[in-house]
Amino acid sequence: MNKVVEERTKRTQWYQEARFGMFIHWGLYAIPARGEWLRSVEQLTKEAYEPLKDEFAAENYDPRKWARLAKEAGMKYAVLTAKHHDGYCLFDSKLTDFKSTNSPCGRDLVREFLEAFRAEGIRVGLYYSVIDWRHPDFPHYGDMHHPMRKHPECSNENRNFDNYLEYMFGQIKELLTDYGKLDVMWFDFSYGDMKCDTWKAKELIEMVRSIQPDVIIDNRLEGSGEDAGSIRTLDPTPYSGDFASPEQMIPPEGIRDEGGNPIPWEACITLNNHWGYAAHDHHYKSAKMVVHMLVECVSKGGNLLLNVGPNAKGEIPEESVAILKEVGAWMKKNKKSIYGCGYAELPKPEWGRYTRKGNLLYAHVMEPQVGAVCLENMAGKVEKMRLLADNSEVKETHYWNLKEYDKNAFFFFNPYAADCYPLPDEKDTVVEIYLKEE
Ligand code: GLC
Repeated sequence: MNKVVEERTKRTQWYQEARFGMFIHWGLYAIPARGEWLRSVEQLTKEAYEPLKDEFAAENYDPRKWARLAKEAGMKYAVLTAKHHDGYCLFDSKLTDFKSTNSPCGRDLVREFLEAFRAEGIRVGLYYSVIDWRHPDFPHYGDMHHPMRKHPECSNENRNFDNYLEYMFGQIKELLTDYGKLDVMWFDFSYGDMKCDTWKAKELIEMVRSIQPDVIIDNRLEGSGEDAGSIRTLDPTPYSGDFASPEQMIPPEGIRDEGGNPIPWEACITLNNHWGYAAHDHHYKSAKMVVHMLVECVSKGGNLLLNVGPNAKGEIPEESVAILKEVGAWMKKNKKSIYGCGYAELPKPEWGRYTRKGNLLYAHVMEPQVGAVCLENMAGKVEKMRLLADNSEVKETHYWNLKEYDKNAFFFFNPYAADCYPLPDEKDTVVEIYLKEE
């Protein structure tokens, strides 16, 4: 096995077990409340955007509340934006004055986040944007995304990109050195020529690994949400990352390398349609849809990194809180079918999905059935079945109307009613199937 792959496999053991994490996008952009890309989308000048730092109070910021919510939802790790594309730092960087400790909130928001989530036993990660629209030595005019990309007066002749890289490396070193053990470093993102060697990615990874050898890293020093990079190949670069990061979608068949070997991945997905707080965006996914997204990711050998975007006061939106609590109630009963589970290597059943851990197969029944639930080609393979929510017996049935279909195994949820509607849990009723040793 390739050394990069071998080390990646070892580093990501906890991550493959965790399956479910919280993404948190928070910063100055929560004040305009039109999402974290507004400086670029609205082409706001530095002068128009910067005064927001003198307003950012985060007066209700209580990361212990955030951590308790993540725990209640069943989330095992959490990643906070330490610096997004706008360059504003939620940590007390010695390399800039554009930071939370210089805003009215006057706090090192990253440090408090890390302490609060670790206290709840949740692994912690930091998102750091390698893109920086504020730094004078980052390309402006003609860049693909910079807010001043269409301003010839913002030409790049006198910009020294090495100065920016020195700043970027310095800040990443601050985060890796001054904030304790980090479990995830989430870099974002590469585009056009702005990738790989442009970021000095090989040196950057060497620095990261020398300071925190166990931290796992995403694949966006090389890729982005649309291009996984060399992590999919059999000869990945040293900066290919430890996991792939599909965005706002779930890969149709999970993610494998060219040799068909599963690779670690997480789908990062928002609860509404924005990463950063968007006051007008009430288009939230239901708790049922979140459960189905999570099960789909796990059934394809991946994780779900589900995003919340706190407002300028430091409060997670009420809609997000309600959804996460409802998801947590389902997780409380069914977490065994999520943590440490993965591909079942079975065709997707019509009624839902399978997840698997060793000889335990989990049937996630999401669609009510007019008759018995069919376990295709499983005749003679089932030792016993239990409803995961309460460990009650689910009996295999040989009901009269199933006689012709004897290569399958079947069950009803209610032995007295030869049907499976409504489902005991309308979100997803999980049956734990003990497979006979082959
Ligand atoms: C995209 C967006 C960025 C967001 C990231 C999360 O890269 O540009 O704003 O932080 O997705 O995956």
